[in-house]
Amino acid sequence: MKLFIATHNAHKLREIGEILPGFEICADDPDAEETAETFEGNALIKVRAIAARHVGAWSMADDSGLEVEALNGAPGVRSARYAGEPSSTPANNALLLKNLTGVTNRAARFVCAVALVAPDGAEHVVRGECPGRISTEPSGAGGFGYDPLFVPTGFDRSFADLGEVEKNKISHRARALAQVKTLLLG
Ligand code: IMP
Repeated sequence: MKLFIATHNAHKLREIGEILPGFEICADDPDAEETAETFEGNALIKVRAIAARHVGAWSMADDSGLEVEALNGAPGVRSARYAGEPSSTPANNALLLKNLTGVTNRAARFVCAVALVAPDGAEHVVRGECPGRISTEPSGAGGFGYDPLFVPTGFDRSFADLGEVEKNKISHRARALAQVKTLLLG
């Protein structure tokens, strides 16, 4: 069965394909502005944009980011552009560390919302979370985004130190996609 995904991110497409064998994964560009204040809202904006073109098939979109407790949930839905446009990972990470200077509560979580439109038009939304803390300095060469600064609960190494295989067992995206798998395959 075809599953249309609102992304051209090759990494995401591969990860989804591995988790959902048996589906023919097809990328589509939502070309929609992410104007919602929640991850779920933005995932729905994106999936609705592509589902309109694929009536009778499954469509899916995700939206993710980092929420830091001491910053009232920031960077949140603005994770990609926390330090402004154009999106810059070094600038985002530097700003996060600056905003947490002297802050002892380092609690944070990665969140991933996935929205789906079923062949009958019904909408489904699931959420995966990975709790952890923000370290005081970056560590590790793997991963992307805030990975060098994020230490998941139960570990003493960052997502960037852990590497893709370990990260994908516990990540927010893996946890959301596990629910998607249940939804799609029963
Ligand atoms: P997206 O919605 O998956 O494109 O993620 C938006 C932004 O959240 C990214 O540009 C990253 O800054 C951040 N982010 C989301 N997931 C991760 C992750 O697994 N590791 C590091 N940063 C992430």
